[in-house]
Amino acid sequence: LLSVRFGRTRRDGEPPLINGWIPFLGKALEFGKNAHGFLAAHKEKHGDVFTVLIAGKYMTFIMNPLLYPYVIKHRKQLDFHEFSDQVAPMTFGYPPVRSGKFPGMDEHIQRSFRLLQGENLDNLTESMMGNLMFVFRQDYLSGESEWRTESVYQFCNSIMFEATFLTIFGKPAHTSRHSGMVTLREDFVKFDTMFPLLIARIPISLLGGTKAIRDKLINYFHPQRMSRWSNTSGFIKERAALFEQYDSMGDVDKAAHHFAILWASVGNTVPATFWAMYYLVTHPEALAVVREEIHGVLQVSGIEADHNGDIAFTREQLDSLLYLESSINESLRLSSASMNIRVAQEDFGLRLEGERSIGVRKGDIISLYPQSMHMDPEIYENPEIYKFDRYIEDGKEKTDFYKDGQKLKYYRMSFGSGSTKCPGRYFAVNEIKQFLSLLLLYFDVEVVEGQEPCTLDPSRAGLGILLPATDVQIRYRPRRA
Ligand code: HEM
Repeated sequence: LLSVRFGRTRRDGEPPLINGWIPFLGKALEFGKNAHGFLAAHKEKHGDVFTVLIAGKYMTFIMNPLLYPYVIKHRKQLDFHEFSDQVAPMTFGYPPVRSGKFPGMDEHIQRSFRLLQGENLDNLTESMMGNLMFVFRQDYLSGESEWRTESVYQFCNSIMFEATFLTIFGKPAHTSRHSGMVTLREDFVKFDTMFPLLIARIPISLLGGTKAIRDKLINYFHPQRMSRWSNTSGFIKERAALFEQYDSMGDVDKAAHHFAILWASVGNTVPATFWAMYYLVTHPEALAVVREEIHGVLQVSGIEADHNGDIAFTREQLDSLLYLESSINESLRLSSASMNIRVAQEDFGLRLEGERSIGVRKGDIISLYPQSMHMDPEIYENPEIYKFDRYIEDGKEKTDFYKDGQKLKYYRMSFGSGSTKCPGRYFAVNEIKQFLSLLLLYFDVEVVEGQEPCTLDPSRAGLGILLPATDVQIRYRPRRA
């Protein structure tokens, strides 16, 4: 049998090159199945920097987290948005923002992200609290206080999807809930299942009914329809007003942008909420500490934890929930597998530590794969174990983690890095805190015994928080104060 090696040849100064034997697809198949294992095996063989041909792209992986800062600070030569502006429009169905057709829009969009942070976060958080309590009460708190059984993913998805939707996009005129929320959620899940294929740039026309589902999802955000919604966040209002300034942007294009924000705001948050809740309910000792912390914070300010009354958290109270925050961060460490991608804008030598520099060619992709860092036993002792207080030391947040005796600048990267860091990260952690606080204030919760532990479904490797391979059953019962 004749086998031919495809791909380019390595030049002096470039990292080891792994071309693979299958043209174009290169190592994509192997990578997709088990990215973490694949990269660990290559690191073992080729060292901490190497280049792999994946789906027609040369990707250089920087595996040593001590080298991450050198990549992250190279903002000029290593650009992110070139990549995202090709992939996101194809995935969500809007025209590329940087094509020249919409002058100035990219900068405005970037600026709109400030409305998710700083002082603007207070409004969002307050609104989220009201919406979470509303959905909890409507769907889960009515009726008798007997034990009920529920799947954790199902539970997190139905509450977080709707409460986040109401907070970001607002509510319809005259009623408090959007009609068709269940269908919207189901369509979203169908679309989300195809998400990895769309990101891999498989044309949507080849993906069966996905195009029709996406059209339906996009239509939900038609500007005429949205104009009747109230309590819409400042973030979405500013973006909607921005799109109105461009005559060349059609109504469906505007709607597709809003749909992309729906994906960004729940696509990772729902699985992240799942893991945060799953680990707490399967670790009763952690659950007890976190519950006590929440009660302590609320009692200090004299708020009745009675489920008939409204519960409000100030920003300071939310920030002071250190054990809760550590438990969320620990579950993010264990479940996140987002790849950080930069595209080389020219041929150049990427300076790493000391005198070391590696040759990079224009168009090459430089990747960080933080899951490898999150699971490094040198940084995190027994990395596969959930330790809810891993990020606490002497009653304060622990921020010093080491590799080769050196303190790491980056040790947890669930939200990306540098110029591509998630603008919704503070809101995301806050809303998970709020969800879990209400859960523990409202309910007694326990896991149904005799179930296998949940494992990660790798099909979204590289794209964010991994989904669980199976769901898990809990029993819950409203607490009586
Ligand atoms: C981008 C993670 C929740 C809005 C990103 C990126 C990551 C990320 C890793 C960078 C993408 C990349 O480098 O390719 C997460 C996780 C979340 C979460 C793990 C939940 C646990 C949210 C929420 C919102 C949001 C709640 C909005 C309300 C965005 C937006 C971008 C983004 C708009 C794109 C930023 C840009 O184009 O520069 N997110 N995210 N995210 N996220 Fe999040």
